Amino acid sequence: SVEKSLRPTTLDQYIGQDQIKHELRVYIEAAKKRQEALDHVLLYGPPGLGKTTLAMVIANEMEVQIRTTSGPAIEKPGDLVALLNELQPGDVLFIDEIHRLPKLVEEMLYSAMEDYFIDIVVGQGPTAHPIHFPLPPFTLIGATTRAGVLSAPLRDRFGIVEHMEYYTEEDLSEIVKRSADIFDTQIKPEGAHEIASRSRGTPRIANRLLKRVRDFAQVAEKDSIDQPIVDHSLKLLRVDNRGLDETDKKVLETMIELYHGGPVGIGTIAANIGEEKDTISEMYEPYLLQIGFLKRTPRGRMVTYEAYQHLGLESEFKEK
Ligand code: ADE
Repeated sequence: SVEKSLRPTTLDQYIGQDQIKHELRVYIEAAKKRQEALDHVLLYGPPGLGKTTLAMVIANEMEVQIRTTSGPAIEKPGDLVALLNELQPGDVLFIDEIHRLPKLVEEMLYSAMEDYFIDIVVGQGPTAHPIHFPLPPFTLIGATTRAGVLSAPLRDRFGIVEHMEYYTEEDLSEIVKRSADIFDTQIKPEGAHEIASRSRGTPRIANRLLKRVRDFAQVAEKDSIDQPIVDHSLKLLRVDNRGLDETDKKVLETMIELYHGGPVGIGTIAANIGEEKDTISEMYEPYLLQIGFLKRTPRGRMVTYEAYQHLGLESEFKEK
């Protein structure tokens, strides 16, 4: 698919997250020199920053196969046994949304990760007995938006823990240019930067906006994506100059209009705008916090003066 071809396959092609790449290069080279499996890796951070892509890059750099699944997809221990059973020595098992693993499955992972075995109970009632099932050395890569909700026993079994950060506008610009190149689309540096500055630090959003802008440019018969066509397209898509969409604005405006800018709980905000609490706390709140439009207090979230200003509501701001 098009998505897939946008994915970098090596650490050299992977743009941004320099600190993480630097560390991983060392751990990968060391593991390869020792002819061992790479230690287990936990990747955490907001959605869309390339956790799945990075897991694929790691497997590629280790020259091993990767099997991909997600926490909710592994419903029972038997599902995990089936996945583990297919691993060759050194392979990567990638579990996205690892914080959503069922408890029994998570507990089975402990011995798998630590000592490469699982105990399976076969038979029922008085004939039930455990079978010791050895596994090849493998690397578990777990991805989560929230490291804080992982149980300590699981978190502690990852030897390598990496926190992914929002991308800089410079890095996002490079990603947009690279993607445009893959699409065989001409883009001006100012066009790439305009997309980057409205992508909330998130490559997935940058690539999605690039595709939509490319559609507008195509229909307008532009031979190159420049700043004005980006501006025109993103106005129609209702993405503002900080990358905020209608939901972000609804969050801020609801807090201002109904709660005088807070403090107010995230659940209350979600209920007021008809969104899931988890959607707000995982997809909207982190970026609003990052750019300083929201702040956390012990009594709930508050809208900052900068956000009032951005919305043109500074006259309604009251110091608390
Ligand atoms: N596409 C999405 N994320 C990317 C990244 N970090 N580097 C290069 N291309 C990407």
